[in-house]
Amino acid sequence: MKKPLIIALDFAGKEEVNTFLANFGNEKLFLKVGMELFYQEGPSIVYALKEKGHGIFLDLKLHDIPNTVKSAMKGLARLGCDIVNVHAAGGKAMMEAALEGLETGSNGKRPYCIAVTQLTSTSVQQMQSEQLIPVTLNESVLHYASIAKESGLDGVVCSSFEAKEITSHLGESFLTVTPGIRLLADDSGDQKRVATPDFASAEGASAIVVGRSVTKSQNPFEKYLQCKQLWEGALNEA
Ligand code: C5P
Repeated sequence: MKKPLIIALDFAGKEEVNTFLANFGNEKLFLKVGMELFYQEGPSIVYALKEKGHGIFLDLKLHDIPNTVKSAMKGLARLGCDIVNVHAAGGKAMMEAALEGLETGSNGKRPYCIAVTQLTSTSVQQMQSEQLIPVTLNESVLHYASIAKESGLDGVVCSSFEAKEITSHLGESFLTVTPGIRLLADDSGDQKRVATPDFASAEGASAIVVGRSVTKSQNPFEKYLQCKQLWEGALNEA
């Protein structure tokens, strides 16, 4: 996977998506379809975006008993996405089942399967008091990343602040996909662990996910190019 900048299509329906994508002309993009859009439009939105030549990260964050996740992944594999994901908190048996489902349902090459570690909207205080995990965020994220790797997954979703440590422990080929990306002047919204595209790049992230910074911008294409330049510019210097 060539270090993509992934745009989070957090929209309520295909009309909003089409209006947004009209800003990009014929540019081939890497798009993230999350639960808001997928629950409204279903598989047809994935097929429509793929037909236009875009890469797809289907961000449904599966977290259920292994048998259910396996069956769900078998179905999702048929959509032909590039990346799908689960919550590492579902455990190793669930992650292994996810992979089995993907292998069974894929026609040849299965999508990358990555695990959400700690959401980028989670603070250390929240993790410790609500999830009763009495360690640092870095330790929790690294632990989840390690069990994801042991389960055979291809990588994790983490914040930019954990990417370097994960790579140094689990290797360059283990993907670190980092949301919570903002330019310095942007509002962080509900996100707690935010960073700029160039910071994520310097920390060795495999991909960045940019949502509201681009989708809520007055000029989405310009903002996209700005993020891309920071992401790729820093990559070129690395
Ligand atoms: O608008 P913003 O850039 O904050 O959007 C980030 C996107 O990445 C959202 O679609 C969110 O669901 C997703 N995401 C995240 N943190 C994770 C996993 C996914 O913010 N750990």
